[in-house]
Amino acid sequence: MMKRVLRLGVNIDHVATIRNARGGPDPDPVRAAKLAAKAGADGITAHLREDRRHITDSDITRLVSEIDLPLNFEMAATVEMLDIAQRHRPHAACLVPEKREERTTEGGLDVVGGFDRLKPFVDALGEAGCRVSLFIEPALAQLDAAVAIGAPVVELHTGRYANLEGAAREAELGRLRDAAAHCDAVGLECHAGHGLTFDNVAPVAAIPLVMELNIGHFLIGEAIFGGLDSTIKRMRALMDKSRAAAQGEQSA
Ligand code: PXP
Repeated sequence: MMKRVLRLGVNIDHVATIRNARGGPDPDPVRAAKLAAKAGADGITAHLREDRRHITDSDITRLVSEIDLPLNFEMAATVEMLDIAQRHRPHAACLVPEKREERTTEGGLDVVGGFDRLKPFVDALGEAGCRVSLFIEPALAQLDAAVAIGAPVVELHTGRYANLEGAAREAELGRLRDAAAHCDAVGLECHAGHGLTFDNVAPVAAIPLVMELNIGHFLIGEAIFGGLDSTIKRMRALMDKSRAAAQGEQSA
């Protein structure tokens, strides 16, 4: 069997978005997480937003107690969220910027500008046993600040890459590659995510130093047409194929 070096974290937020549209219990994001685990996900990601627009506090409680996979808890750097993370001690805590008026996480965390404000959160999450990750743009200055602040992991924001086309997309892919190489040089574990789909995942999966992709919105939307199990399996297969081809090119 091929050694799996690229993990897939399945973000289940938007199962909760659909549930909350009606206010009842269905569809259940924890059921989706269990199904994702069976389909080949390596981890589950959930973002408890300040406004609870999708994932709720009780979803997090259930995910922690009912799911065997590592939970990547996405959170804003606020006292309320820190308190929740300290109570649940998820495997990973990913700090993201959060604005109430945004539809999704727009842009990465400014670790350079927010260093002093963020540092106590990074320290406290680390002390709680969480692997701290910072969701940042692929900019070298942000990576250096992530090292200085003491985070072991960064997640590169691929939203800009996903939204661009042609030469501009290639240029952004170059920034992602450079950032991943810089992570390796400075000892950061490199993850990536946001806006990834069947059509655009391969070039990101091919970046050899990226260890994990976190994918949500597309998987949940596509599951309407193909089912969650086969959608996750297809994403997994596309990632593995692209990574294996890139590794073949490297060793050739
Ligand atoms: N990674 C982070 C840090 C995110 O905030 C999100 C969106 O919640 C994702 C990955 C997944 O993005 P998408 O839902 O576009 O796949």
